[in-house]
Parts: sequence; structure tokens; C-alpha cells
Amino acid sequence: MAERNIYQVADWNGQSGERWVANQARLDAMVAVFGQAAIDAVAPAPGERVLDVGCGAGTSSLALAARVGASGQVLGVDISEPLIGRARALAPPDAPVRFQLADAGSAELPEGAFDILFSRFGVMFFDDPAGAFAHMRCALRPGGRVAFVCWRGAAENDWVRLPMGAIKGIVPPAAQPDPEAPGPFSFGDRERVACILAAAGFTDIAIMPFDASIPLGEGETRDAAIDDAVKMALEVGPLSRALADQPDGIRASASAALRAVFARQPGDRSVMFDGAAWIVMARNQAAAREALAM
Ligand SMILES: C[S@@+](CC[C@H](N)C(=O)[O-])C[C@H]1O[C@@H](n2cnc3c(N)ncnc32)[C@H](O)[C@@H]1O
Repeated sequence: MAERNIYQVADWNGQSGERWVANQARLDAMVAVFGQAAIDAVAPAPGERVLDVGCGAGTSSLALAARVGASGQVLGVDISEPLIGRARALAPPDAPVRFQLADAGSAELPEGAFDILFSRFGVMFFDDPAGAFAHMRCALRPGGRVAFVCWRGAAENDWVRLPMGAIKGIVPPAAQPDPEAPGPFSFGDRERVACILAAAGFTDIAIMPFDASIPLGEGETRDAAIDDAVKMALEVGPLSRALADQPDGIRASASAALRAVFARQPGDRSVMFDGAAWIVMARNQAAAREALAM
């Protein structure tokens, strides 16, 4: 079998992982409400065992640990060594949480051991998403539930649509990306997400839109917040990738264009953008290996 997720392993252990670690507190603040919405939707109870997929620096794992308490447990799994390192460093020693460096789509996970499969923006990067979810389903007990938050399409997410629009005409146009290729927006199509989960053996699939404002930039003054938003856009996410290998002149023109667009966004000592996500829920009705055999 060809090795899976090679590009994502390299990226999250290279530039993306390092930049996420460097900007971890800011990125956490940007997506906090989305993760909270998914946690509220699945309502972890004291004593439950949770698998946090693509846990990154572990902020959602710690929030889940607070909900399941000392009688519960959370396992955060991620392919990124720098992010798992940060997660381990940030976790209080008495928190009921552990972290595992592994590809969640093929990791050795105890069968039927979890009540909840959770993720905050960590499940959109699998080369074979149905295969990865089928594998992870085996780690859920029969009746176990799924809750994750993922982005809707890029066109609905102003935090990426507006910056990408701003650099059009400055950066040479790239080939149109495959909307289903692994990446932050690969779960944008609701039908596709439902098919992936159904193919993986899940039932009771519910996919609900969730919208919230995202502070892309923050600062003591509005000007400082705009500078901060430009810095964030250049460092993390799709725009940073589009500009990665561009010469300084193009990057400077892109920064000026971003500044002009960001100055039109609402915010006082922040620069706010609309964000659009799905909260996805499902259930594992079958015993661990049953659905795989079908
Ligand atoms: C957008 S970040 C989200 C991180 C974290 N959940 C958060 O909300 O801060 C996506 C995460 O998914 C992880 N990831 C990507 N593919 C993965 C895989 N196959 N198995 C486990 N983690 C993966 C990346 O390393 C990264 O930490």
C-alpha cells in the first residue's frame, strides 16, 4: 500500500508546524469559538474517553479534559512533532490527557476504547478520508459519537477569500486547486462529508452550519491590529503558501494590497473577518470491525 499523507506529514513537521507553534496563542484565539461550539454540541460528560484528532498544540484536548474530569481521559493524536511537543509542554501534569505522535488515519489505537471522536479543524488533511475515518471508527465503542468542526468552502470564508482576492493580479495565478485535495477547505462540500462518514460506517450524520467572526489581527491601536493581520496572513494559511516563494517586490506589493483590504474590515483594536464552518456530528452504531467487513 502506498504510504499515505506524505505531503501533510512533511508540511506539518516543517514550515506549517513551526509557524503554528510560533503563532499558537493567536491561532487558538482565532478559532476558539468554533472549537467550543463543537464541544458544546457533543457535550462530553464526566468520565468519558475522548480521541482528539489532529489535536495540534492540544488546546481543544485540554478543554475536553476539563469536561471529562479526572475520571475521564483524552488522547490527542497529531502527525506534527513540533505541535505535539507544544501540547505536551502546555498540558498541566494532573490533566487527564495524553498525546500521541501519529497519523490518526493509521495510528495504533485501542479498539472500541473511546466514547467520543472529536476534532477542531484536524480532519481535512487525509489523502483517503473515508479510509481514515473507518480506521478511527474502530477506536470508538458501539454507540460512540463523533463531533468535529471543519471549514466550509473558501468562497464562504472571508478570512481567506478577501486576502486571496487582494493579491490577485500581483501574484502570478496558480492552477485552480482541486477542492477535494487534502487541505483546510476539502470538507467544504456538505454532501462529500456525509458520504465520507457513511462510507466509513457512521450513522446519524448531522451537518450544521456555524458562523462566527474571526480576529485575524489584534493590537493596541487599529493600525497595529492591521499590521498584525497582515503579518498573520503572510505567516499562516493559504495566502502564506501562495506568497512563499515570491520575490521581495511581489511580497511588498501584496502586503500593501492586504493592508488596504484589511483597513475596510470591521474592528476597533482588531481586524474581524467572517468565518464559516460545519459542525459535524455522527454515531458509531456498529461494533468496531463490523462495518469494515461490509
Ligand atoms: C489546522 S491544524 C488544527 C490543530 C488543532 N486541532 C487546533 O485546532 O489548534 C490541523 C492539525 O491536523 C494535524 N494533522 C494533519 N493530518 C493529520 C493526520 N493524518 N493525523 C493526525 N493529525 C493530522 C496537523 O498536524 C495539525 O496539527
